[in-house]
Amino acid sequence: MTKNKKEVNIETRKGSTMDEWPEPIVRVQSLAESNLSSLPDRYIKPASQRPTTIEEAPAATNIPIIDLEGLFSEDGSPDEAIMAQISEACREWGFFQVLNHGVRPELMDAARENWREFFHLPVNEKETYRNSPKTYEGYGSRLGVEKGAILDWSDYYFLHLLPLHLKDFNKWPSFPPTIREVIDEYGKEVVNLCGRVMKVLSLNLGLKEDEFQDAFGGENIGACLRVNYYPKCPRPELALGLSSHSDPGGMTILLPDDQVFGLQVRKNDMWITVKPHPHAFIVNIGDQIQILSNSAYKSVEHRVIVNSEKERVSLAFFYNPKSDIPIQPLQELVSTHNPPLYPPMTFDQYRLFIRTQGPQGKSHVESHVSPR
Ligand code: OGA
Ligand code: NI
Repeated sequence: MTKNKKEVNIETRKGSTMDEWPEPIVRVQSLAESNLSSLPDRYIKPASQRPTTIEEAPAATNIPIIDLEGLFSEDGSPDEAIMAQISEACREWGFFQVLNHGVRPELMDAARENWREFFHLPVNEKETYRNSPKTYEGYGSRLGVEKGAILDWSDYYFLHLLPLHLKDFNKWPSFPPTIREVIDEYGKEVVNLCGRVMKVLSLNLGLKEDEFQDAFGGENIGACLRVNYYPKCPRPELALGLSSHSDPGGMTILLPDDQVFGLQVRKNDMWITVKPHPHAFIVNIGDQIQILSNSAYKSVEHRVIVNSEKERVSLAFFYNPKSDIPIQPLQELVSTHNPPLYPPMTFDQYRLFIRTQGPQGKSHVESHVSPR
């Protein structure tokens, strides 16, 4: 216990030095609008990371699509066939699309289009909301603070919805005028959906339905939103909109652009381009659920490619454990034959690695293994 405490302090000290970005921030939107004929070096990925270095799956391949209609009957008992589809998707893919998920299609469209309008504001009007690596809240253009890093071709906006003491409307945009209200409602609906999915995740592992939720801190979970804006890119074959990563949190509910593809999911040694179904959400397992499930569920690598024809907007909603409780494999899921693969760590501690290093495939969760 004492040892753990000491480690936390070291991490906190490291964190507090990250008050500013290591280099002046350049908005990708500004670069895209300056009619560049070539791509600035900062955005040229090494050959091994470029979009075409790993084979792409045949165009028709897609992640599983699961219809949630009738998932919970009136008496609260879940539908076994839908549960089985979710179980397989979490184990084999770490990613799936859901239909009839209970969030109104009009609300989904309003959420995305309000953000599109925000990103279409002139860059200088968005600078009021510029973020720092301390909390990441606000308008940003890089992840990670490593000096000289090759950057991704995207701008973003990051904000907290839960816990309530972190939700601060002053850190949310005030334009378009409807954006705060729409995002607030959207957030509540998506939290609701996450609650239902969490029950299924527990039941599918033979646990009581509230077990995952309780391990996340019950009502005290965290929820935040990252809105990604991927401008048109002059040399899309050399860049990435978002580098390969797994999501550090619990579970992500992604609302993709309704017109433009871009998200790719790694399956075996291929990249699968997700073909979003109209008004579906894309659900994916994050590192914290992989850890709680002792790796029964997989937090899978994904990335975003860009194109020279069209911009793309996506909303990534992160459903996270309460940030100061240790997350470790659930006791019922480990035994002498199936020992815990991960030592306990709070999400606060875990997130610091990511915030320092930026997206790096699955290296974060893979380095966080129990000593053998
Ligand atoms: C993310 C993410 C995918 C996308 O924000 O973590 O993976 O399609 N986004 O923008
Ligand atoms: Ni992601």
